[in-house]
This record gives sequence, C-alpha cells and structure tokens, in this order.
Amino acid sequence: MTRTVYLNGAYLPETEAKISIFDRGFLMADGVYEVTSVLDGKLIDFAGHAKRLQRSLDELDMANPVTPQVLLEIHRELVTRNAIKDGLIYLQITRGAPEDRDFVFPDPTITKPTLVLFTQNKPSLADSPAAKKGLKVISIDDIRWGRRDIKTVQLLYPSMGKMMAKKAGADDAWMIEDGFVTEGTSNNAYIIKDGKIITRHLGTEILHGITRAAVLRFAEEVKMTVEERSFTLAEAQQADEAFITSASMFVMPVVEIDGVSLGQGTPGQFATRLREVYLEESRKVAI
Ligand code: PDD
Repeated sequence: MTRTVYLNGAYLPETEAKISIFDRGFLMADGVYEVTSVLDGKLIDFAGHAKRLQRSLDELDMANPVTPQVLLEIHRELVTRNAIKDGLIYLQITRGAPEDRDFVFPDPTITKPTLVLFTQNKPSLADSPAAKKGLKVISIDDIRWGRRDIKTVQLLYPSMGKMMAKKAGADDAWMIEDGFVTEGTSNNAYIIKDGKIITRHLGTEILHGITRAAVLRFAEEVKMTVEERSFTLAEAQQADEAFITSASMFVMPVVEIDGVSLGQGTPGQFATRLREVYLEESRKVAI
C-alpha cells in the first residue's frame, strides 16, 4: 500500500515525495529527527517529543518551520490518512537544500528547512513477542560524537552496532565509554539490582529519552527506587534484571549481556511490571 507522507506543507503519495540532492540532511547529516509511537490511533508522549525536537533544533541553530500545534495536526492527519492504529511516526527536519554543497551553513532567510514526516504501520507494537522472550545484547565501544543529547540523523554507527549484534547472534548492542555503559544503539539502558532501577544520569553522553523520563516517573509512582548513575558492564552482568526503553520498544527486557544470562535468563518481574505500567499509563494520557 502506498503511504501518504508529508513534505514541506504537502501531503503526497510516498512515491511522489522528492528531496533535492543538495539537501544538507543527505550531504552532511545536518538534520534532527523524532520517532513518536501511536497506540489505538493516539500519540504517545507527543508533548515530550515536540519539546525535545525544539531543543535539538536550538542546539544546532536550526529553524523550526512549524509550531507544536501545527506539528500535532500533521501527526494526526497522517495517522488518519494512513489508518494507523498501532505504529510509529517518523519526523525529520534538515537545514534544507542550498544551491550548492558547502560546509558553511546556508543563509536561513534564503534556504528553508526541509520537513518530512511518514508513518510506519506496526500492528504488534505493544504486543511484541520479543517482550516475552527478552533481548540479548552485546557490548561495543561507543565511538559516536560528543553531543548525543541532540537527536541528529547521524545514525551510521548505531546501524553498524546493530549489524555487529546481528552477526554475533544478538538483538542489540550496549555502548561502552571509559568503562561505563552509555546507552543502547537506539534506546536507553537500565539494570535492576535488589529492586533498585539504575540508569545513566543525563548529560551529553546519552539521548534524553522521552520514554526514559516517563518510565522513571511511573517507577517512582509505584514506589520503586531509581538511581541515576553510570554503571559498568561487569555490574550489568551481575544485575538481577536489565531492560531498555525507547518510543518504538517501550520497556523491553534484556536477558543476556555478552553471553552472560541475567537471573533466570527470562524477562524479570520488575521489567515486565514496568512495561505493563508504562503501556497502561501512557495509553491513558495519549492524545
Ligand atoms: N531512538 N537513545 C538513543 C541513541 C536513541 O536513538 C533513542 C530513540 C533513545 C530512546 O529515546 P526515546 O525514548 O525518546 O525514544 C535513546 C528512536 C526510537 C529511533 O532512532 O528509532
């Protein structure tokens, strides 16, 4: 089925949406993005994604072509036009397409940003078989740039990380810097020890996950203790449980790290409960 996508003010069949070869997103990875999930036709955590998008743009001195209200309308229109019940909305803003390739940023009064949105239909998004089995992760060096708090489209290394995991017979990779776990290739990383949730503190080393913020809030509401600090791979391998969070995976248990099984090697009780709480609470406030 041909999707309807959004490009710079127009709703178009996906085959007709075209971007210039001079677009800086294409040439320089000069762009930012967001992924928002849709459950029962409603947007999960839209306000959080819109806020982080603005922050990413501000950090890169890039203009936002639309207000949050217009952005919400575009999201909703795409959900309707593509009849999405459960799935994802991908959004990308680039610094646009100047007349020629140049390292210097183009004049923003002349070159306007490119805004693209498209939907991804995922009927089993909330009912993922992986959540019942848990993921196996491997560790890899974190060699990404130093501003991982900005959600840019520089995703080559995370893609390579997923391929390294796949080759090793695992599902994903956790990245290590100076001996500590930063995050997963496209998700935030957590361990649980003696009932306590441990996840890296916010900084420029990780993306400030929107799902992370919600999960930590819900965890405190159900009286779980949260500790925001760095942890090593060895500590993770000795943990009772582990999990990851992202807009596309929600809370996903991790059952093996570099070949070492955690607990019984099956999703742990805390991660399973957090997934349920997250889905339940997020659905309640979806818009
Ligand atoms: N990835 N860390 C990284 C490096 C990410 O790419 C993501 C999201 C997260 C989790 O953030 P959030 O909870 O706001 O989704 C953490 C998206 C889903 C992606 O690239 O598809």
